[in-house]
Amino acid sequence: MKSIVVANWKMHPATFKEAKQLFEATKKAAEKAKGVSVIVAPPAIYLREIVKLYKGRRVAFAMQDGNAEAVGACTGEISIAQGKDSKAGYVIIAHAERRSMGETNDGARRKVSAALNSKMTPVLCVGEASRDGTGEHFNFIKEQLRIGLADVTAPKVSQVIIAYEPVWAIGATRPMEAHDMHEMAIFIRKSIVETHGKDGMNMKILYGGSIDETNAAGMLRDGDIAGFLVGRASTEATKCAALIHSLSEA
Ligand code: PGA
Repeated sequence: MKSIVVANWKMHPATFKEAKQLFEATKKAAEKAKGVSVIVAPPAIYLREIVKLYKGRRVAFAMQDGNAEAVGACTGEISIAQGKDSKAGYVIIAHAERRSMGETNDGARRKVSAALNSKMTPVLCVGEASRDGTGEHFNFIKEQLRIGLADVTAPKVSQVIIAYEPVWAIGATRPMEAHDMHEMAIFIRKSIVETHGKDGMNMKILYGGSIDETNAAGMLRDGDIAGFLVGRASTEATKCAALIHSLSEA
């Protein structure tokens, strides 16, 4: 099965020298693996230099976030347009860690639009903080999708990648169960069909939360997903290579 691995380095590593080493290992694994598309999301300050190290076609690049305005009086911010100029093709939007720092569904909506306007692929993150057994988390996800995708026209909706990351499985000891992911994938598609019509059936959905080389292949097989958004396992060269290898088509 073909798959996508988004390597979300978050605020790692501490030096550009280490970033180069991590990228070299990731690149090597990506070039050897069949059917795995790797998208590296380094800290923005490393992005342009990392892009320069790469000439092939197996690896693409993502921003971890980006401001929807192209330019402006926004000290400390980096715009999606600037990411595009640094050769990122993807933008992670409203990651749970950004949401916990104040990102809103409305902010996500503007960023999704800005990414599509810049001809970049938005990776819209959704996910509930907890589940209480009542099924209420489905309504929560539906609302995140409804607002986040509100400015996307029906013909464009399948250009957005949805990353489902239950917050309780991020940075945890194990991922959610594959059959629960499968159920959520069906729910996500159904919700988007309701708001955007039949193209909602074609959404690419990623899973994120405690994925590594021991559990990725099973989740890909049974979870009804196109791939993964990976944190910790993407920031250690040997683990990252093992993860990419585990998804390689035989
Ligand atoms: P993790 O993080 O793989 O370290 O659990 C996932 C994420 O936050 O994208």
